[in-house]
Amino acid sequence: MNGMLRADALSGKVILVTGGGTGLGKSMAGYFLDLGAKVIIASRKLEVLEASAVDLMEQHGGEVIPLACDISNAAEVDQMFQTAIDRMGKVDAVLNNAAANFISPTERLSSRAFRVIVDIVLMGTVNMTLTAGKYWIANRLPGSFLNMVTTYAFTGSGYVVPSAAAKAGVLAITRSLAVEWAKYNIRSNAIAPGPFPTEGAWSRLLPGKLVEEFDPAKKVPLGRVGEHQELANLAAYLVSDFSAFINGEVITIDGGEWIKGAGEFNGFDAVPQETWDQLNPKRKK
Ligand code: HXC
Ligand code: NAP
Repeated sequence: MNGMLRADALSGKVILVTGGGTGLGKSMAGYFLDLGAKVIIASRKLEVLEASAVDLMEQHGGEVIPLACDISNAAEVDQMFQTAIDRMGKVDAVLNNAAANFISPTERLSSRAFRVIVDIVLMGTVNMTLTAGKYWIANRLPGSFLNMVTTYAFTGSGYVVPSAAAKAGVLAITRSLAVEWAKYNIRSNAIAPGPFPTEGAWSRLLPGKLVEEFDPAKKVPLGRVGEHQELANLAAYLVSDFSAFINGEVITIDGGEWIKGAGEFNGFDAVPQETWDQLNPKRKK
C-alpha cells in the first residue's frame, strides 16, 4: 500500500490527467506529484477541479493546474491542451482516465443513452489522442499515452454494454497506435483495473441495494477490492521512463477477478472437503 517508485521518478515531467479531479484520477495525480511531476487535471466541472487542485497541492506539494474541458468536444480539447502547453511549457504524458458509465439492461437503453457513453469514453479518448499526438508529432517531441480501460474491454459484459463497446475501442486504439506512432517515439499503454471503490463508479454501477447484494470483493480471488495506491504505483511506472520499452501493453490489476470467471472449474471453490474425500476415498489427504 506504499509508494513504489523513488522520490524523483517523475521529476521534470508534466502529466495531463483527464478526470483528475475525482476518484482514481485524483489518486494517480497525487502520486505523480509525490514523484516530482507537475500535473494538469481536466474535466467538465471547474469547481470540483479547483477544489481538488488545492487539496492535491496541500497533500502532495508541487503544481496542479485545473482546466475545464468536455473531452467529448474536440474543439474544447484542442483549446484545453493549448492552454496546458502555454502554462506548463510542455505535456509529456496524457492519462486518458475520464469516463462515464451506468448500469442498465441493454433493452432499456435509448440510442442517445448509448451515444452519451461512447462520446465520452471512446470519442473523448480519440479527441485527446489526436490533439496530443498531432502536437507531439509536429514538434518532434516524445510522448506517452496511458489509457484506463476495464477487464470487460476484452471479455465484454452485460449491463454495461455502451461502456464495454467504448472501452474495447480504446484498447484497440492503444494497441494500434503503439505500433503506428512508435516511430515518433510515442508510447501507448493501458491499465485494466478490477474493482477500486470510488464514489463515481460505485454510485453509477452499484446504486441502491445493489452494493450489498453484489459485493465486488466477493468476486475477487484475493478476497478484497483494490487500494488506490496500488493502481497509482502501476500508473506512475507506466508514465515514467523506467517503462520506456513497454509499448502496446494492457496490464490487468484486479486480484485475479476476470480470470476467475473464465476458468472452467474455478467455481469448484464451493465444493466442500468432504465431497472431495468421498470422490477419492483411497487417496491420501
Ligand atoms: C438507462 C440512462 C441511465 C440509466 C441515464 N440514461 N442514466 N438510461 N439507465 N441508469 C439515459 C438518459 O435517459 C438519457 O437518454 C441519456 O442516458 C443521457 O442522460 P442525461 O440525463 O443527459 O445524462 P445523465 O444521466 O445526467 O448523466 C449520465 C452520465 C453521468 C453522463 C453518464 O452519469 C456522468 O457524467 N458520469 C461521469 C462519471 C461516471 O460515470 N463515472 C463512473 C465511471 S465508472 P434519453 O434517451 O432518455 O435522453 C467506470 C468503471 C468501469 O467506468 C468498471 C468498474 C468495475
Ligand atoms: P469517477 O471518479 O467518476 O471519474 C470519472 C471522471 O471523468 C470524473 O472526474 C469526471 O469529471 C470525468 N468526466 C466524465 N465525463 C467527462 C467529460 N465529458 N469530459 C471530461 N471529463 C469527464 O470514476 P473512477 O472510478 O475514478 O474511474 C476512473 C477511470 O477508471 C475510468 O476510466 C473508469 O472507467 C476506470 N475504471 C474504474 C474502475 C473502478 O472500479 N473504479 C474499474 C475499472 C476501470 P466531471 O464530472 O468534472 O467531468
